[in-house]
Amino acid sequence: MSIVVDRPETPPASRPTGERRHRRRRLPPGRGRVLDVAGVTVAFGAVRALEGVTVAVREGAFVGLIGPNGAGKTTFFNVVSGFVTPSAGRVRLAGQRIDAWSPARRGRAGLARTFQNIGLDKQATVADNLRVARQGGSLAGELRLSFARRSGLPSDDRTSAMLDRLGLTAVLDERVDRLPVGTAKLVELVAALSRRPRLLLLDEPASGLGAPERVRLGALLRDLHRAEGTTILMIEHDMALAMSTVEYVYVLDFGTLLAQGPPEAIRRDPKVIEAYLGKAAGRP
Ligand SMILES: Nc1ncnc2c1ncn2[C@@H]1O[C@H](COP(=O)(O)OP(=O)(O)OP(=O)(O)O)[C@@H](O)[C@H]1O
Ligand SMILES: [Mg+2]
Repeated sequence: MSIVVDRPETPPASRPTGERRHRRRRLPPGRGRVLDVAGVTVAFGAVRALEGVTVAVREGAFVGLIGPNGAGKTTFFNVVSGFVTPSAGRVRLAGQRIDAWSPARRGRAGLARTFQNIGLDKQATVADNLRVARQGGSLAGELRLSFARRSGLPSDDRTSAMLDRLGLTAVLDERVDRLPVGTAKLVELVAALSRRPRLLLLDEPASGLGAPERVRLGALLRDLHRAEGTTILMIEHDMALAMSTVEYVYVLDFGTLLAQGPPEAIRRDPKVIEAYLGKAAGRP
C-alpha cells in the first residue's frame, strides 16, 4: 500500500468553531490533553509491539494513528483501553492516571472504542446493542443484554439521525451476525458515539466498507467533530479517508514512533513513504 494519495479529496478537516478554537489557544502548554500516553512499552514474548511510545491528544482534536501492518497500532489502543498492561510508561485520561483502571472503569470515565474485528454482541440485534451502549455498557459487555431489552428505546434523536445518515435504520431489528462486516462496523461506530464519549478510539472504521459507505463515514466523522467537538483518535489504512479527516497524525513502525505532524507533512515524509513502500516490497 502506498501512502501517496493522488485522487481528489473531500475538503480538508473541518476546524472547530471560532469560540472553541479561541478557548483552546488560551490553554497553557501541556493542559487540555484528553489523552496523554508517555513512554509505553509492550512485549509479547520476543516481539516488541510498542517501544517507548509517547502520544498526546488535545481536547476536541481529531488525530490519526497510522503505520504498516503489525506496527503496534491496535496494541496501543489495547493499552489505552486497559486490555493490555504495558511493562513501562503511563497513561493519563483528562489528567488522571488510569494505568490501574479496568476497561469498564475507563469506559465510565468517557473512553469509548471500536474494535478492528467488531466488539458488538453478534448474536443480538442492532437495536439491542444500541440499548446496551446507551445505558453505558462497554462493548465488552458489562451490562446484560436481557436487562437492556427490557428497558428503553434503542436510540435518541441524535442516534437516530446518525443511523439514518449511515443507512442503518432498516437493519435495527437484524442480528449483527447477519449483517455485512462493513455494516456491522458502522453500527459499532454509532453505538460508541451514542455514549457521547470524551475520547473515541476508532480501529480501522473504514475496513470492510465500500466506496459510498466510506464517503458517508468520512462526512459523518467530520461533521461530528465540527459540530460537537468530539475528540477522536483513529487508526486507518485508507489514506484518503484519514488525510481528509484528521488534523494531526502519529506514525508507528515496528512499535516505535516514526513520525508525527500535520497530514500534509506526513504524506510527504520520506521516512513514512519508505516504511509503507518497504512493507509493500516485502520488507519483514
Ligand atoms: N496478544 C498478542 N500476542 C502476541 N503477539 C501479539 C499480540 N497482539 C499483537 N501481537 C503482535 O504485536 C505486533 C503488533 O500488532 P498490532 O496488532 O498492534 O499491529 P497493528 O499495527 O494493529 O497491525 P494491523 O494494521 O495489521 O492491524 C505484531 O507483531 C503482532 O503479531
Ligand atoms: Mg490493528
